[in-house]
Amino acid sequence: MKVPFPNRGNFYDKDDINAVLSMLDVASSDKKWEIIHQFEDDFASYIGAKHALSVSNATAALHLSLKAIGLKPGDEVITTPMTWAATSNVILLEKAKPVFVDVEPDTLNIDPSKIEEKITEKTKAIIPVHLYGHPVDLGPIMKIAEEHNLKVIGDAAHAPGAEYKNKKIGSIEHMAAFSFYTQKNMSTLGEGGMVVTDNSDFFEKLKLYQNHGVEYLKSIKEKPWFRNCIVPGYNYRLSEGQAAVGITQLKKLDSFNKKRRELAKIYSELLGKVEGITMPIEKDYAKSSWHIYSIKIEKDFGVSRDEVCLNLNKLGVGSNVHYTPVHYFLPYQKLGYKKGDFPVAEEAYEKIISIPLSVNMEREQVEYVVECLREIRK
Ligand SMILES: Cc1ncc(COP(=O)(O)O)c(C=O)c1O
Repeated sequence: MKVPFPNRGNFYDKDDINAVLSMLDVASSDKKWEIIHQFEDDFASYIGAKHALSVSNATAALHLSLKAIGLKPGDEVITTPMTWAATSNVILLEKAKPVFVDVEPDTLNIDPSKIEEKITEKTKAIIPVHLYGHPVDLGPIMKIAEEHNLKVIGDAAHAPGAEYKNKKIGSIEHMAAFSFYTQKNMSTLGEGGMVVTDNSDFFEKLKLYQNHGVEYLKSIKEKPWFRNCIVPGYNYRLSEGQAAVGITQLKKLDSFNKKRRELAKIYSELLGKVEGITMPIEKDYAKSSWHIYSIKIEKDFGVSRDEVCLNLNKLGVGSNVHYTPVHYFLPYQKLGYKKGDFPVAEEAYEKIISIPLSVNMEREQVEYVVECLREIRK
């Protein structure tokens, strides 16, 4: 049996395909914008946020969020080292400083109890990452942000549909960024993203920078052709074909997440009987979107994580490591970060391995992966 990583199978159904096809003969840009705005409105109401802006990917969403808060060179943004580099790269791109805070040992999310000691006069924002789709403990973070007048930008690339205390991720933070990349919980033809907010000022700035820095859809009566570029912006727009499939994908997101939850439950039941493996948990306050199922290979498993990875591969099972702590990468070493700075993230990095979890997997595939792990342990 082969269980690739990711294991998408036929991810798009007839509705998705027809939605894309229906965009191929769109003759006017009015129709284009109608579809894009519909996707944004649907997403905003799904999350329970006032505004949503579709963008080309989550990196763009995070970048625009920093533009929206007016981040300046030399400012500081607090975030986690246990994430994909995109989260902190956008801080560097604005010539600001990413200030990392170590993670909780169980969720591997940023540890709220370690944030306050890192706040300085230069701190402007916190970017918590809802790693693997498990919500960050947002309560204390929003409180710290309020006390220190900071903005919270959720990196929700993994977390569409996840909930913190029964509220959707993205409805609590000041802004939040979602990804619709190929293997994410929902996808818009392999790339795409969304940024959501309740704040109308932020929303205006997000739109401005997303679309070349041009005052959005504002034109003068006598000169309807006139567009005013007021800042140098980007083209971070989503296409109408992507928006069309986003609309149909969003309708299925809850059922996708339900399936992921069921598969995760089977994994945890079966892996509970294998010594030397620590399974991911779900905290009382959390409803995970189960984007990634990451286990820890402990010492008493008797085989190292790297060997597990190679052996799984030989048995036809794909795997991955999410993530190499960002402070190990060159741009961050150049800032003075070094091995030893974030011991919890670093220790976890030696042990973690993500095993296949995708919406089209079947129980037998989960059982096969667990059987392979048992075999490797022997
Ligand atoms: C935690 C996290 N943040 C941000 C991103 C960036 O997402 P995108 O590829 O849509 O730019 C990713 C991508 O995988 C991610 O995992």
